[in-house]
Amino acid sequence: MDSKYLDNIKQYKPVNYLNSSLSIWHKLPVARRLSVFILLFFGSLGELRVVLTKRSTKLRNFPGHISLPGGKADNGLESEWQVARREMFEEIGISESNQYLKENYGFVIDHITTLPCYLSRTFSAVKPCIGFMNFDNPEISEVELIHNLKLSVNPGESSSVFSCPLKDFLYPLKEGLEDGVDAAPSALEALLRSSHRVKWGGIPWMLRSYVFLQHNENETGWLKEMASLSTSEEESVDESGDTEDEAAKKRQSPPPPKRQKKDLSNWGRLGSRRLSDTNEKVYDVWGLTANILHDLATIVYSNPDSNKALGEEELIHSIWDKGGQMKEKSRSDLEIALIESNSVKDFGFGDILPRTEFNRLKNLYKI
Ligand SMILES: *[C@@H]1O[C@H](CO)[C@@H](O)[C@H](O)[C@H]1NC(C)=O
Repeated sequence: MDSKYLDNIKQYKPVNYLNSSLSIWHKLPVARRLSVFILLFFGSLGELRVVLTKRSTKLRNFPGHISLPGGKADNGLESEWQVARREMFEEIGISESNQYLKENYGFVIDHITTLPCYLSRTFSAVKPCIGFMNFDNPEISEVELIHNLKLSVNPGESSSVFSCPLKDFLYPLKEGLEDGVDAAPSALEALLRSSHRVKWGGIPWMLRSYVFLQHNENETGWLKEMASLSTSEEESVDESGDTEDEAAKKRQSPPPPKRQKKDLSNWGRLGSRRLSDTNEKVYDVWGLTANILHDLATIVYSNPDSNKALGEEELIHSIWDKGGQMKEKSRSDLEIALIESNSVKDFGFGDILPRTEFNRLKNLYKI
């Protein structure tokens, strides 16, 4: 049982910018406040699992990506928890009301803690809220739960829901000197795990990816049920962005020559794809979602280096305070330049921050 690990999350205290008691989230304009819900529960083997969704391919931002349930604040009065619970309800139908969940399904969602904010590639602050599905009535059978818990994915927002063992995100254990060369517990379910060091605008950044089979015998019953409700909703799209029909046609023609150098720009671009060698359908958890779950796994299963703050509170605070960005609802020209920047030569955080501050941040996020 992983139950002792829940205590590690309870004891974790988020470190905000400049050790402030308040997160930078509360200082930003409402439109820059995003919140995600990390819904944890115990799987049948006693492993801690996390609920993930595949975003609808019709969404404007991050279409088809695997993400945590969540979204943008509606107004300045909404707390990070309220945003995350509301969005989780809108996307996958899990009620915002614990009273309702308790009366109808025999569980409540305990709000455990939050993590510091993460910076999204679109210059919003993402606040992860960690909750645990607490079945106070162990009498309720899984069959009953599946029957009662008429969860449904909202086709406009998400196209599927699934879960993964949190422990699989404990990779790499320490970012190694070489990419990916690092000991970590063997995966319970992940097929592939990788990590690469990159830079964004001159700031060190990790690109991590965790690949899971879509057909998973270990999936919990109530999520299996949801999956079968939602698979027909959207045509699945493969790595190239083709629908399955188009992809089938293409498979009959010779494959294009393999690129020599690893091109990371398209990496994990779609959350759902088929592996080119085995043709198995997989989910690719990468980007911010992968980084947040990696950090949470280190809190739960190892001793995170207490000198290294998790998340990007300091960076966001500097961008806001010293860089004069993230002040308005719409993206500034400088922000857009940074979003599109592929190298420091184009444009970097050094161009909007004082030199000493840029150096401090580079050092802070050194991997
Ligand atoms: C199911 O779980 C077992 C035990 O953790 C693991 O060995 C197996 O590979 C898992 N199956 C899949 C499809 O991930």
